[in-house]
Amino acid sequence: MTDSKTISKGRILSGMRPTGKLHLGNYVGALRNWVGLQDQYECFFFIADWHALTTDYADTRSVKQNSLEVILDYLAAGLDPERSTLFIQSHVPQHAELHLLFSMITPLGWLERVPSYKEQKENLKDKDLGTYGFLGYPLLQSADILIYQANFVPVGEDQVPHVELTREVARRFHQFYPRKLSAGCRDPKREVVFPEPQPLLTPTPKLPGTDGRKMSKSYGNTILMSEPEPSLRQKLKTMVTDPARIRRTDPGDPDKCPVGDLHKIFSSSETMAKVYEGCRTAGIGCIECKGWAADSLWSVLEPMQERRQKYEANPKLAWDILEVGSAKARKVAEATMVEARDAANLSHDYEAPTKSIAGD
Ligand code: TRP
Ligand code: SF4
Repeated sequence: MTDSKTISKGRILSGMRPTGKLHLGNYVGALRNWVGLQDQYECFFFIADWHALTTDYADTRSVKQNSLEVILDYLAAGLDPERSTLFIQSHVPQHAELHLLFSMITPLGWLERVPSYKEQKENLKDKDLGTYGFLGYPLLQSADILIYQANFVPVGEDQVPHVELTREVARRFHQFYPRKLSAGCRDPKREVVFPEPQPLLTPTPKLPGTDGRKMSKSYGNTILMSEPEPSLRQKLKTMVTDPARIRRTDPGDPDKCPVGDLHKIFSSSETMAKVYEGCRTAGIGCIECKGWAADSLWSVLEPMQERRQKYEANPKLAWDILEVGSAKARKVAEATMVEARDAANLSHDYEAPTKSIAGD
């Protein structure tokens, strides 16, 4: 977190809802990319535990355990508390304060037309999502981003509308509440409280789950980042393959096979070449091919699980990292709130009360 890093490329913020142990889809679609960003940007990565409540408010018993699982997977993946600020949303109350300020100026229509709103409401019919908090989901996300004055938000395609809303909210805030020049801040030349963030699109290769559909917790077809080796191998054994390869003697095509997709992401080009050749000529069987895929996956998972071990054995270490990170995050968030309150004429500055009024 040196100054040169701050100046060179800017600040990054991203987070995930704590839904439990993360899987390879989360790794390939986000985490792997975040790990690589740590050297180039000033990074803030967090656990969006309040966001978990927007859909799971009726039963919050697993939020804490799930948050622990997520920080374990963050650390396992290689997010490094020495280089990045790792924190948990609910320990930085300034997010809630900024969300409230934004709620005053955000037209309902902006939130109602966010694509994920109607979709999720349709998809999660068993939950009552006719709540204020659920409608406000993307606005809380805007507060998450803007409170760190983040320049870039590494996200998948599905989150781009949320970053776009964030930019609109920032503009609207400035229309009503231009920045006061008196406020001390990170960059005195900046004219606005909130720089407009850009999405940093994560390239997401196709990652199928064990049933060939997109890997997703809701399909029950995941391979976890913490998957033990025997169960990893077992899952691969029963994974669906190119349907054209019914018998061992039928040639197949790795481009039409979910196992082939895994090879493309995790295997070396030599292994890839053997897979293409062997599959198309029926020179290899699927069992053998899946064994190679398991080897490739395990070579990625093993070092992560090694890193994870020490925190799993002593979760306090992981919570400590989140606490130290949250304290850093609060400092940065509070500095932004000073500017935001000041702009909205809600400055907390006051003279100490006179003795008689203070009542002592
Ligand atoms: N909505 C994001 C998701 O479902 C999680 C999230 C919450 C987030 N706040 C954020 C992502 C701020 C990036 C920036 O994945
Ligand atoms: Fe898929 Fe490999 Fe079987 Fe070809 S040999 S169908 S790539 S599992």
